[in-house]
Amino acid sequence: MASLTEILASRIHAVAGVDPELRPATKPQFGHFQCNVALRLGAEQGRKPREVATELVAALDLSDLCEPLEIAGPGFINIRLRPDVLAQAVTEQLRDSHHGVEQTAHPTVVVIDYSSPNVAKQMHVGHLRSTIIGDCFARVLKAVGDTVIPQNHVGDWGRQFGMLIEQIFDEDLDLDALDLAGAEQLYLRANSHLNQDEQFADRARARVVALQAGDEATMAIWRRLLEISADGFAQTYARLGVLLTDEDVAAESSYNSMLQAICDDLADRGIAVMDSGALVVFVPGFDAPAILRNSAGGYGYDVTDVAALRHRVDDLGAKRLIYVTDARQHDHFMKLFAVARLAGYLPDDVEATHVGFGAVLGPDGTPFKTREGTAVHLDDLLDQAEAQASPEVALAAIKYADLSTQLQKDYVFDATRMTATTGDTGPYLQYAHARVSRILRLAEAEGDVIDDATATISALKQPAEQSLALELIGFPAVVAEVASALTPHKLCGYLYSLATHLSGFYEQCPVRKAEPEVRRSRLVLCRATQQVLAEGLDLLGIAAPQAM
Ligand code: ARG
Repeated sequence: MASLTEILASRIHAVAGVDPELRPATKPQFGHFQCNVALRLGAEQGRKPREVATELVAALDLSDLCEPLEIAGPGFINIRLRPDVLAQAVTEQLRDSHHGVEQTAHPTVVVIDYSSPNVAKQMHVGHLRSTIIGDCFARVLKAVGDTVIPQNHVGDWGRQFGMLIEQIFDEDLDLDALDLAGAEQLYLRANSHLNQDEQFADRARARVVALQAGDEATMAIWRRLLEISADGFAQTYARLGVLLTDEDVAAESSYNSMLQAICDDLADRGIAVMDSGALVVFVPGFDAPAILRNSAGGYGYDVTDVAALRHRVDDLGAKRLIYVTDARQHDHFMKLFAVARLAGYLPDDVEATHVGFGAVLGPDGTPFKTREGTAVHLDDLLDQAEAQASPEVALAAIKYADLSTQLQKDYVFDATRMTATTGDTGPYLQYAHARVSRILRLAEAEGDVIDDATATISALKQPAEQSLALELIGFPAVVAEVASALTPHKLCGYLYSLATHLSGFYEQCPVRKAEPEVRRSRLVLCRATQQVLAEGLDLLGIAAPQAM
């Protein structure tokens, strides 16, 4: 279903011969949209823009959609939608099960790689961002009808397990009593042990070889570490209220059996070459090559990602790959995509994107660190926010702060500002939803029950009503934009503006105290706004409370 704005634009386009570049009017007295196309055409044709505008207006018949067009100043065309047309558009959106959001004709299989914490380490603030952003992408892409496959690329393989397992032996540690926080302490002890003790370092290396060779006693401890970590991660996901489940875990180790074949394939075709004992792929534009196998015969992060990509394209049928990590990994992914294209693992019709996000900064404007100098744990952040507000509100605060600025930018974690119920915050949007819900509840108690399927708006005369209606019908276009450009801050900005229009509407237009027909229409407008706020918040992964 094309939106009202799109229909309007294409009708003008047909007559003017060029894109009318409709802009929202800057002031209510200028109508709803402004079209400056006459100025552009006038300049091109060496004619007076006002003359061009007059001609255009005479040729346009938009009376089924708009009030008579007005020409202002040097040749601006001011467009005002007819109130009944606007009202009709709002009710159609209200009745539509997708809130007007256009469903893709051919659902795309989209793989989103996000969260991806590392075993035996608690999730830190980078994983928090990845989890929240990835969750939002998953929700938005599902909303436009895509088939979303989340992949949690858990770091469960690598050299660190050698030292962890040796340390467990040295300490004769009881693994049944170990939890994720304990495992992380163990990690720190093993690490400092490694730095101090050459002989321990040798044992750790030998242990990695044993693990990779599938030694049963070693594997048993490794598996136990995975379990402990998985329990810890699951608790955090539950606390965050994200969609990720155990089924979405596709950990690094799950690709082990593919690595040898990938190395052989790329070496046979001359794409990979030996370089000081390592098997690597040189990619134009990058200083360092991608490493498939190091000189000790070990496989690492790069080749595992090549295998994961292949699995996603060949086995999962992905046509769009999205990776969500810290911006510092950008080069890794650019190189990965280049290698995969060279190898033919990533066909031209599959789109691959890395969405890199900025750092979360502490109050002093430097990257958030604990007193010990390690990255802040996610649970600490949640605790800080919950010290200011209820869990539901604290979560809204964090998620909104994470999503409302351009992802690439760093942002300052300021629990007080983020949890405020005024200003551009998650709690403010929740409050807007709670307030409109309250009005609807009270009206319902007074006998005005709104049924979405039959509700209609008969009167929409006030500018504040009209501009709220106009905001509302902009929702589908914003969702479509976020789905294609992966820019959640646009949705946040839209919802904030919607909430602001809603409060402007309350100021100008009494709802429950209005005379019956107007009251009814305004209640339907409230209901439509409640619906879009709730849906929009849901796409951000934020709860929409009935009361606050
Ligand atoms: N485990 C990695 C980290 O914590 C992130 C993995 C991202 N995904 C991937 N396919 N490389 O930095």
